[in-house]
Amino acid sequence: MHPFHTIIEPFRIKSVEGLNLITREERSAALARADFNVFKLHADEVLVDLLTDSGTGAMSAAQWGALMQGDESYAGSRSFYRFERVVRDLTGFKHVIPTHQGRAAERILFHTILHPGDIVPNNTHFDTTRANIEVESAEALDIVIAEGQQPSTLHPFKGNMDVRALEALLARDAERVRLVMVTVTNNSGGGQPVSMANLRAVRALCSRYGKPFFLDACRFAENAWFIKQREPEFEHAPPREIAREMFRLADGCTMSAKKDGLANIGGFLAMNSDEWADQCRTLLILTEGFPTYGGLAGYELEAIARGLEEVVEEPYLRYRIRSTEYLAEKISAAGVPIIQPAGGHAVYLDARALLPHVAPLQYPGIALVNALYKEAGVRGVEIGTVMFGLHSDGTEAPAVMDLVRLAIPRRVYTQSHIDYVAEAVIHVAKMSQHLRGYRITSAPKLLRHFTATFQSLD
Ligand SMILES: Cc1ncc(COP(=O)(O)O)c(C=O)c1O
Repeated sequence: MHPFHTIIEPFRIKSVEGLNLITREERSAALARADFNVFKLHADEVLVDLLTDSGTGAMSAAQWGALMQGDESYAGSRSFYRFERVVRDLTGFKHVIPTHQGRAAERILFHTILHPGDIVPNNTHFDTTRANIEVESAEALDIVIAEGQQPSTLHPFKGNMDVRALEALLARDAERVRLVMVTVTNNSGGGQPVSMANLRAVRALCSRYGKPFFLDACRFAENAWFIKQREPEFEHAPPREIAREMFRLADGCTMSAKKDGLANIGGFLAMNSDEWADQCRTLLILTEGFPTYGGLAGYELEAIARGLEEVVEEPYLRYRIRSTEYLAEKISAAGVPIIQPAGGHAVYLDARALLPHVAPLQYPGIALVNALYKEAGVRGVEIGTVMFGLHSDGTEAPAVMDLVRLAIPRRVYTQSHIDYVAEAVIHVAKMSQHLRGYRITSAPKLLRHFTATFQSLD
């Protein structure tokens, strides 16, 4: 232990990528060309890109080196067996099915096992998870604890599932519940962690009712770090052991390796059920590829295998969670409303609280996202009424919260980038009363936030 308080980035930089410094006028024109939807911007028009932490991380020298070890054999590739060994060792699951990213794992799982009318409870479904359930005419039910829906309420595990609500659901409607999911950390609810105690309680209920329990494990390592920090039983446990314990409680998982796989692409579906795995592999061959590559190159399997080993290292996780918290502290100290406490991978601005004069159906999150881009070149994403407000019956209602997520790519930005972002947010917050809402001019029925076009109500 050394006597210094500064938590440094536990890496040094070997290769750099320049940023394109464009003017406010150029950004204003770019935003208009993009129909006021930041998903349609060219990435070169963005200065600090906090759109997502998914697939945007920097790989380590060891991962780049591992790429050269990729075995591109169609069947039985050495890289697959290395990948399978690492995933099995971490999760303990019997079947490991590679996919090109998380949503492919979701699609394969849900298309294989769901019937119309089934219910899949989760703390909070991510948008692709929800869409992949709804497309099977099943119901994606969110039952996070009440604190998880109150942005300013402090709670160490705001991602916890409401176990009473789950029990009531199972008592009432067990037949319709095909499986129970918990998302760690809870991305759509502010990147908030789920405690081991909560996972144990969900496991116990699933066992009592004979229901499979799956993790949406995209950010399992960040969740493990929060458990280490906040659950005394795990204070001295290595993050890797905590993660293993989390997986041991479940029967399977869907995983996007673009987050805690520290890879730019990839994912997997893993489970213990022989029957479901057989059926999933059949669909995998149809849409992703042979079961030993599942839509990934051998070199990508190598990068993920190495990434899964690095992501549970303590110095990395300490730096990772602290850098998010650092941004949250700066913004919050200036009085900008955010979800408290900070999430693992992102800071979530409470756009509804910051822009009380913009009605939820005029999309305060979009107003804030667009202002942040225009004023400072910082790209965030709306997680609110545009993302979740349109229901499968075509009706629209305000989402539970209107948030703007500033997701931090892994190992990409330095502390001065983060200082700049804090300054930008505070600047935009100061002009918030001048920001106006938007209306949607066109949008698809599913996952509309990616491609919707907007017009300012100014
Ligand atoms: C919680 C959660 N589940 C699933 C996914 C989908 O993963 P992918 O983007 O790899 O398809 C994401 C992606 O952001 C996520 O955050």
